[in-house]
Amino acid sequence: MREGSLPHAMLRPMSGDQIEHESLVVSLNDEEALAAYKQPFDAYPVSLLPRIIGGFLIACGNLFYGRRPSYMKFRAIEVIARVPYHSWSSAIFTFLTLFYSNEDRALRLSTLSHFTRFAADNETMHVVVISGLARAHERAGLLRHTIIPMLFAFFYFWTSYVLYLLNPRWSLEINYLFEQHAFDHYSLFLEICGDDLKARPIHSSYLAWYGRDVRSHYEFFRSVRNDEIIHRNRSVHEIELHCSRGRAAF
Ligand SMILES: [Fe+2]
Ligand SMILES: [Fe+2]
Repeated sequence: MREGSLPHAMLRPMSGDQIEHESLVVSLNDEEALAAYKQPFDAYPVSLLPRIIGGFLIACGNLFYGRRPSYMKFRAIEVIARVPYHSWSSAIFTFLTLFYSNEDRALRLSTLSHFTRFAADNETMHVVVISGLARAHERAGLLRHTIIPMLFAFFYFWTSYVLYLLNPRWSLEINYLFEQHAFDHYSLFLEICGDDLKARPIHSSYLAWYGRDVRSHYEFFRSVRNDEIIHRNRSVHEIELHCSRGRAAF
């Protein structure tokens, strides 16, 4: 759906950050550019506790929704994937309440807060559009596709929140693992269903409102795949920026 299909009052102006993000997303459609962007962070050493919690979340996802990618599995992934960004915003709000008078700390927290709000909007776009696509292509059960993802999201929200207060690195590292998992799943989906996805046009008012210009399911899922690797790399970037001095950095 193009901009022309939405009333002018419902179009939102794109921020400089979003224009930059959308341009990066398009550039990652090139496989060589994608490999060059991804490779430097592929071997990031994740700590033990995040590996245990991230592994648990991914194993539960595979148990309930299978190992193979599907619209409904993506819907569950996206319901859960947007949670840490909201959780970090809440934790940052808590920290800012405690440290109003420390300008350096407030500045660090506010820059991360900027990223979390932007990424949360991006993940919300994923879950809204994928929910619509899933409804049209697969049958959804209330327990398996609504209640269970919400329970996971509840668990993940508080895990991210508490870990962020204890040690932000741990919380960001779980996100690194989850975003890598999402990226791998979207990549596999494009590989095995690419021809079908290219033949399916996409129509979404939410996408038009958001400012994502895609014409087919293939182009949409490729853009989501690129979003996820950007989120993964950005998680490491935030760790390097804010956690280099350990817990005291926040
Ligand atoms: Fe996502
Ligand atoms: Fe993501």
